[in-house]
Order: sequence, then C-alpha cells, then structure tokens
Amino acid sequence: MSLLEIDALQVGFATEAGLVRAVDGVSLAVERSQTLGLVGESGCGKSVTASSILRLVPSPPGRYLGGAVRFDGADILSMPREALPAIRGRDIAMVFQDPMTALNPVFTIGHQLREVLALRFGLARGAARERSAGMLKAVGIPDAGARLDQYPHELSGGMKQRVMIAMALLCRPRLLIADEPTTALDVTVQAQILHLVRELQRESETAVLFITHDMGVIAEMCDAVAVMYAGRVVERGSVVDVFERPRHPYTKGLLASLPRPGHARKSPLATIEGTVPSLIAPPAGCRFAARCAHRRELDAARARRCVEVDPMLPPAGDHPVACHFPLDAGAPAGNSA
Ligand SMILES: Nc1ncnc2c1ncn2[C@@H]1O[C@H](COP(=O)(O)OP(=O)(O)O)[C@@H](O)[C@H]1O
Ligand code: SF4
Ligand SMILES: [Mg+2]
Repeated sequence: MSLLEIDALQVGFATEAGLVRAVDGVSLAVERSQTLGLVGESGCGKSVTASSILRLVPSPPGRYLGGAVRFDGADILSMPREALPAIRGRDIAMVFQDPMTALNPVFTIGHQLREVLALRFGLARGAARERSAGMLKAVGIPDAGARLDQYPHELSGGMKQRVMIAMALLCRPRLLIADEPTTALDVTVQAQILHLVRELQRESETAVLFITHDMGVIAEMCDAVAVMYAGRVVERGSVVDVFERPRHPYTKGLLASLPRPGHARKSPLATIEGTVPSLIAPPAGCRFAARCAHRRELDAARARRCVEVDPMLPPAGDHPVACHFPLDAGAPAGNSA
C-alpha cells in the first residue's frame, strides 16, 4: 500500500458558465520517502488535486464528483470532518502557493510555530522558541529571534512564504505537499529551500508531493513525475525515464522549456503554441490535439483518431502515457499502431 493513493479523482466547480471539471479522473500514488513531482502549465488542476488531499477544496463552489484519496489506507474524502485536523497537523503538511491563507493574522509568528511544536512533539515554550528560531534562520530569515515576535502583516510576502515553509518543516510530517513553494522567491532562497526539503526528506523519510510548472525543479528534486494537462495525468514515470524518453508530446514541449547552455530559459507557453482547452466542455478526443505538433505529422486517419477518441492513461505500468501515438512508438507515419 502506498502512503498516498489518489484514485480516479474528479473535482468540479459550479460556475455561471457551467461545471468546470478542474480535475477529471486523476490517479497517482506517492510511496513512503518518495518525492513525486506534479508538473503542468497553470490552470491544469495541480492545486485542486493538492487541496483535495486535505479536503480543502472550497465547497461551494467546489464539489468532489468521484474517486478517492487514501492516506495510509484511510479514505480522506469520506472520513468524518472531525478526524481531519489531526491528520493536517501531524501527518500531512502543506505549503501553499499563497502564504496569506496559511498564517493566522492575530498571532505572532513565534506563537504559531510554538503551537505546531507543542501539538506535534509536546515541546515546552523555551525549547520551542529555540527550535523555531533555528528553523527561521535555516529558511533564510535574518534576525530570526526578532521575527518571532512579529505578526504576519509585518512580513513581506517572501518572508511569509518562508515562515510557512519553516512551519511545515518543523512538523516533520509523513507527507509534505509543496504547491509551487518557491515560485515567489528569488533564486538563491529557492535553492536554499529546495535543499532544506531534501534534507528533511533524508532525515525524516518524509514523502513529498512537489508541485511546480518548472521541469528544472522536477529534475533537481524528484524521483518520479506525473505530468498533468487539462485536468488529467497524461504521463507518469521515473524522472530518468520521463526526461530521457518522454512519451507524450506535451511532456516533450515542457522539456523544451528547460534552459540549455547559451540559451535563455523559456516558459512552457513560449514553446507550446496555443492554449489549454475549456474544462467546461473539453474536446471529445485528445485534449492536447489542437496544440500537438506530433499529430500534424501523422497521416489523416491517425490524426482523426486523435480528435475523435479520448486517449486514456493505462492504470498500470512503469511509464504509462495517455496518447494514441506515443513518441517512442517509432516514426509517426510508420507501422506502429
Ligand atoms: N474556486 C474556484 N472556482 C471556479 N473554478 C476554479 C476554482 N478553483 C480553481 N478553479 C479552476 O480549476 C482549474 C484548475 O485550477 P488549479 O488547480 O488552480 O490549476 P493549477 O494549480 O494547475 O494552476 C482552473 O481552470 C481554475 O480556473
Ligand atoms: S493522442 Fe494524438 S493529439 Fe493527443 S498527444 Fe497523442 S499524438 Fe498528440
Ligand atoms: Mg496552482
């Protein structure tokens, strides 16, 4: 049994324009001590997937439409609400994209860190303060002792982000969910934080679900990766396999955004033309078809299959892909089917 299992998860949002199927049948597993990367362009459902793990999707307008989330075998989406806070504080820690939501404005930073340490390890006040200050220093906050007596509004966005990361790391959770934790931070601090996460993982055997739109961060941090597109996982595998032998044309496009010596870093949007399809009325066939350069190289019959038949991700296998004509299946017009 994996530590975390997400099984055919479906999450929708009721909007005036219709039901937005933000997550549409996502399955993935995180093993103990593993770092799984979840990557994809903005809007493809990464954060909604992450929030579902702690049942934090705002409802309404959000709704769980199907599937299951199991943590250590326990079904999160159907357990009594009262059981959730214990899991949130002890087993699973989450660092959000937006630090405003995670810190309580009415308590000092020190108070909030102390609470975490008291709840999790029963630490007394003095010891908690010392450990908190040490962790603030480790995440690159100067003058850590003084910061403990400040309130969240007295800190810049980047500082708050680091406090939140410190809080998650202090917890020594069994699973850390990090949703684009370093996007708002400068490159030096980013590197520092990624290093801390790796250290935590080594020491505490914490499993990590690392969410990013940046393939470079995946390469540096993760053992395995799941690539999301338009509410679905389209490819999954070990980082080595996926980077050396991407099977989905979308994955190949994301990899093309990685910097190469002498070239500036490009955003995925600069390398994959077009935009993500509507999640209210997604296309009938492959959701990537309109943007897929690989499809344009296929003969007419095959290209038609792309737009007519929805390619599903096989549930098992080391390196499954949701594509009718994976890139490793030979020349596009060749004889592989
Ligand atoms: N509260 C909400 N109401 C309506 N739509 C939402 C809400 N939250 C997220 N969505 C939609 O769900 C989709 C997936 O969003 P999200 O998971 O945040 O993407 P990502 O994290 O990959 O950038 C997007 O189309 C987004 O507009
Ligand atoms: S199924 Fe067709 S359109 Fe979709 S990714 Fe594969 S080749 Fe491209
Ligand atoms: Mg997000």
